[in-house]
Amino acid sequence: MSQPLRVAMIGAGGMASAHLKAIGPFEDAAVVAFCDPDAAKIEARVAELRGIRPDAAPVAYSDPATMLADADPDVVYVLLPPFVHGPAERACLAAGKPFFVEKPIGLEAGLTRELAAEVEQRGLLTCAGYMNRYRAGVSRARELLAADPPALVHGGWIGGAPNPQPGDTNIGSWWVIKEKSGGQIVEQCTHTFDVLRYLCGEAVEVYARAAHGFNTGIYHYTIDDASSVVLQLANGGVANLMSACVAGAGGGGVWLNVYARQTTCLFTGWDHAAKILRKGEPAEEIQGEPDIFSVEDRVFLDAVRSGDGSGIRSTYPDAAKTLLLTLAANESLASGRAIAV
Ligand SMILES: NC(=O)c1ccc[n+]([C@@H]2O[C@H](COP(=O)([O-])OP(=O)(O)OC[C@H]3O[C@@H](n4cnc5c(N)ncnc54)[C@H](O)[C@@H]3O)[C@@H](O)[C@H]2O)c1
Repeated sequence: MSQPLRVAMIGAGGMASAHLKAIGPFEDAAVVAFCDPDAAKIEARVAELRGIRPDAAPVAYSDPATMLADADPDVVYVLLPPFVHGPAERACLAAGKPFFVEKPIGLEAGLTRELAAEVEQRGLLTCAGYMNRYRAGVSRARELLAADPPALVHGGWIGGAPNPQPGDTNIGSWWVIKEKSGGQIVEQCTHTFDVLRYLCGEAVEVYARAAHGFNTGIYHYTIDDASSVVLQLANGGVANLMSACVAGAGGGGVWLNVYARQTTCLFTGWDHAAKILRKGEPAEEIQGEPDIFSVEDRVFLDAVRSGDGSGIRSTYPDAAKTLLLTLAANESLASGRAIAV
């Protein structure tokens, strides 16, 4: 076998842990460096990596550009909270390093457009963390809906509110702060907006309304309690995507229902278990993949090794469109107007 791919990670929190569990067992990859200002996070990730690869000796850094120059990885994973994007991606672009970036890929439309244009201009391989695009049920639905355009979609993410504590250093320290996470539409329901785009094409207009004042007494809380976003699709269809973190008693979850004349696609749960109904045919049931990060990371690392990015289903420039769509929903919330996308 040729040399293992040298993988570096920027951000050593929860999603670094998830991608380590996926990449750690790959024989043709070696995680060689972590970059995070929080040394305790790096220590925790190194311990996890050594649990999978006892000989691993990754080096710790606190600055992305220094890490890229010093560790010279073949590929970089950018696993940062939404509000700190920019320097990591610029460092990857300057060094010509292919990069993976977790969703949402930022919070600022201008910066994201600029980075997307640079990625395209340089032809750099990128992959964004919209892992549901690799699911078998989503792939089957895309194939059927290509010939049978959807007229109606509804879906969303409904859960309870997290309970961050002062001094938290994980996702709890930023998720409930809208200026840092973008809110539930941008941070979480983004997965559903992305699957909507993947299955049904682009939206041309969004109109959103939100509920406030139901979640009380949560530290630093500035996000919407619940929202409903109506989308007009370019194909003439309509969609309604809902988000809520007020369902403390349960009964919520993740779902997406897509209706076309001959095809109904019903996705349920985080793993997007699919039930596909076709006129005159038996129902198809397709289970969700529990190890979807392994599937996603395998595709990206294979692309980096071969230089052929055709298997990547969500690139940085494409993920930028999902971010802009969710930011348009936030703009509608703020202005009370329908926003053209
Ligand atoms: N694909 C999915 O299903 C999924 C699930 C959860 C989270 N996410 C996304 O993954 C991203 C990361 O989330 P997380 O749960 O790992 O967050 P986290 O808060 O657990 O970890 C983020 C890490 O980034 C570090 N960090 C902050 N600023 C930095 C900087 N300038 N340079 C380097 N490191 C820095 C923090 O110290 C922390 O260790 C978020 O965008 C989140 O929305 C995706």
